[in-house]
Amino acid sequence: MHKLKLKTMLFTTLRSTFCTKTSPTHSSFKPNKHFSSCPIKFPQQQETQPKRQTQTIVHWSGLENWRSSPLNHNRFWGPNGPQTPPLQPSFSVSEETMENCMNFSSTDLDSCSSLAEMGAVVLSTADPLEKSKLSHLAYSRWCQEGLPIGVFQPPSKPARPEKPKLVSPKDIPSPKHSGLPLNAYMLHNLAHVELNAIDLAWDTVVRFSPHCEHLGKGFFADFAHVADDESRHFLWCLQRLAELGFSYGDMPAHNILWRECDKTSDNVAARLAVIPLVQEARGLDAGPRLVQKLIGFGDIRTSNIVAKIADEELAHVAVGLYWFLSVCQKMGRAPCSTFRDLLKEYNVELKGPFNYSARDEAGIPRNWYDPSFPSQDDGKNRLSEVYNRLACIVSMEQDNSKMDGSPG
Ligand SMILES: [Fe+2]
Ligand SMILES: [Fe+2]
Repeated sequence: MHKLKLKTMLFTTLRSTFCTKTSPTHSSFKPNKHFSSCPIKFPQQQETQPKRQTQTIVHWSGLENWRSSPLNHNRFWGPNGPQTPPLQPSFSVSEETMENCMNFSSTDLDSCSSLAEMGAVVLSTADPLEKSKLSHLAYSRWCQEGLPIGVFQPPSKPARPEKPKLVSPKDIPSPKHSGLPLNAYMLHNLAHVELNAIDLAWDTVVRFSPHCEHLGKGFFADFAHVADDESRHFLWCLQRLAELGFSYGDMPAHNILWRECDKTSDNVAARLAVIPLVQEARGLDAGPRLVQKLIGFGDIRTSNIVAKIADEELAHVAVGLYWFLSVCQKMGRAPCSTFRDLLKEYNVELKGPFNYSARDEAGIPRNWYDPSFPSQDDGKNRLSEVYNRLACIVSMEQDNSKMDGSPG
């Protein structure tokens, strides 16, 4: 009885920790001078497998390398791929593009004393280029200066530029009516996704910063790292758009990605299910199709950028899965059914076609997202249904035979 009470109390504490219906407020959190952000120790995933989980999940093999990789300053797309901005480029590139990639002198973050506070500054920055730069600067400062995670309140929604105009998805013009050639059209859409992805990752860092004690520093390290990756992806898209003679904001865009993120603000498990495991996983599905379309259009340079971005998205899905399992374990929940229940509760749709090999590599089990793929539990349920029916038929047969006097 005592044990049961203790378990109930623990569950209630965790539930209130991970499901915050009210927004976190500014905190009087005082950073401890011994609170160093590096090195981050991540819990061994084998230890975080919930006892009720019967399914073996094979994590992405590159996860540890991604986590321990040095700061990535290759924010310029050179003739042969990502590189640091060259001092004297050997190929044609506008002065503006160079300046955009090289100028890291912004001082907006100078007064910040924690990762969460810097994340809030990035979220409150409307200019997309500035947002991308600050994002990299914030992550770099945090890695190099050993600042604490801290606690901060995020803005209710990320600041956005005047352009692109945000419209309903049905009002997004088709490629034909957009005024952009197909390659620039697809690149503009991707740039919009990447800009949103910067905000989604920082919002996860800042919004759940009051729960650092329960989630662990590694959670925040991973999502700040994701934000840094996204800011680099956005910059590559911006650079390539400029090379094609266009800029971000030349056509309308939608606001669906932020809306999906916003509705999971009260629940970290839902945030992990909906953003990395649904939205980012959709990127794994769409990436190779986009690459093929660009190759078909004859734009190999853009196709290479998109292929590199799609490749780097694997890490984002993999860390999402890692932390989703960790949260499920803390809540004593089975991950597969929790994932499905959360999508139902938050009204999030899973849409194929799925890129099974990329999803497998990221570690998401197929029965989590594909209803045509039977899970072990589904199989057991079906078997017990068949057994019950058989038992019922046998019993009826026995009754019938008794009634017509046949030997029992
Ligand atoms: Fe990205
Ligand atoms: Fe991503």
